[in-house]
Amino acid sequence: MASSTDLADNIDEALWFGIADPDHPDEEAKASVAAEVARVSGLKPFPVVASKILRELSRDSFSIPRISNLMESDPALASMVLRLVNSALYGTAKGCTSVDQAVIRLGARRVRELVAAAATMQMFHDARGVGIIFRDHCAATAAIVRVLGQHHELPGSDALFLAGLLHDVGKLLLMETREFDYANLSPQLLARPDALHTLERAQLGYDHAVLGANVMQAWKIPDPIPQIVAWHHQPMRAYAEGGDIGPQVALLRIADHIAWYLAHTTMPSLRFNDTIASSADGSWVGLSASDIERMWVWMVEARAEVMQIFG
Ligand SMILES: [Fe+2]
Ligand SMILES: [Fe+2]
Repeated sequence: MASSTDLADNIDEALWFGIADPDHPDEEAKASVAAEVARVSGLKPFPVVASKILRELSRDSFSIPRISNLMESDPALASMVLRLVNSALYGTAKGCTSVDQAVIRLGARRVRELVAAAATMQMFHDARGVGIIFRDHCAATAAIVRVLGQHHELPGSDALFLAGLLHDVGKLLLMETREFDYANLSPQLLARPDALHTLERAQLGYDHAVLGANVMQAWKIPDPIPQIVAWHHQPMRAYAEGGDIGPQVALLRIADHIAWYLAHTTMPSLRFNDTIASSADGSWVGLSASDIERMWVWMVEARAEVMQIFG
């Protein structure tokens, strides 16, 4: 049997906290998250067909007929991918009737992200209770962060839809393995964007962001998604890193806040827009209150469309 030091060695430093917690020695906490990753990988293996499609699409000389054959063997996956491709968020590809057409119009990398998104959401189609709230929140965050990314035209914003969709999958996994009981938390606490990870860290020694990122690495979800997910509750680390990761994490965090707000009401609020614009994340990416105001309807509509596709 693997020792806790061996298990801790499986954890990539870049997907860890980067801050020492005196209540939870690092090695012990890393061993716990590694054991949980192993448990989740057994319980929730990434769907086989989707994994074969992702592998094929990541090859330089991928074969379109092979992708078509694989897609035909999983009609539910193919239909979800096509609904995404034909959604307003990917407007340039509207009218695609097959996934191979989508590959030609959108490119292999983007289709790979949509296949990963659809396959992950299918894994949680049977979510119940609080799980439905988290799954809807992930779908809403994906739609909103895609709109923010398109508006900002940041390098690396292509990856944001999938990062948004997967950012809180760690919570769904912790529910699945019954490691953390969210059902007894108040609805107000459940809907606070930057709160639950502290409770998880206090109880488990790690949080849903670190768990989700490590599971995604095991599922072979391509970079930079695991990194963005791992750091969505460690923004200072992402900002210090430089490159695309700082703005990616900032936009994801902003979308996270907006998604919880929209779960309550779609009424725009100048005060809310000001709060977001003046937050550390808003300042980091230079998002103004009037930018948010301009994008509001677009975000509301995109959220409704994506939630319908994944609901
Ligand atoms: Fe989160
Ligand atoms: Fe979230």
